[in-house]
Amino acid sequence: MRVESAIRPMRPGDEPAVISLLNHHFPRVQMTSSKLHTRLSRGARFLVAEENGEVAGFADLRVGRRALLRGLAVQAEKRGRGVGSALVQAAVSEARSLGFKRLRVEALDGDVNAVRFYEMNGFAAMKTAVNRFGETVRVMLLRLA
Ligand SMILES: CC(C)(COP(=O)(O)OP(=O)(O)OC[C@H]1O[C@@H](n2cnc3c(N)ncnc32)[C@H](O)[C@@H]1OP(=O)(O)O)[C@@H](O)C(=O)NCCC(=O)NCCS
Repeated sequence: MRVESAIRPMRPGDEPAVISLLNHHFPRVQMTSSKLHTRLSRGARFLVAEENGEVAGFADLRVGRRALLRGLAVQAEKRGRGVGSALVQAAVSEARSLGFKRLRVEALDGDVNAVRFYEMNGFAAMKTAVNRFGETVRVMLLRLA
């Protein structure tokens, strides 16, 4: 069953839920409220999927020289119903409306689920690279123009 979740920019009241989801899925980041605000001041635009007044998932779109979908997660019990794809599409629209020609995402090399998910959402794997944690990642791009 696909559900309609409202995708909207993160509000201050969403921050604890987003921080908790982020730390659960990306523990290496060790997100805190102050780190989150630093990210926001450097061009991060967090989107959230709201379902029944709760944060079901988030997307972290970073815009600067490039547009980068930096993080994406949906609560485990809410997966497989289109929430993740709706967040990606909202990030795509936002990057496009800001004039970017491409949206980039990095999936951990070997994370076949993430690679498949991004391919399903129109991204194509381009090359591998090493991220700031020394992990090999698959760089995937989506053409916006
Ligand atoms: C990847 C993720 C955001 C997808 O969210 P979602 O709401 O389940 O996405 P959708 O419902 O739009 O799409 C479901 C597709 O995602 C893929 N998928 C990846 N992991 C999945 C999971 N654990 N459960 C369900 N689907 C998953 C499947 O390919 C599925 O396609 P299918 O319906 O053909 O089987 C979510 O699984 C998640 O939060 N995973 C953990 C964090 C992560 O890996 N983030 C992405 C890498 S940065």
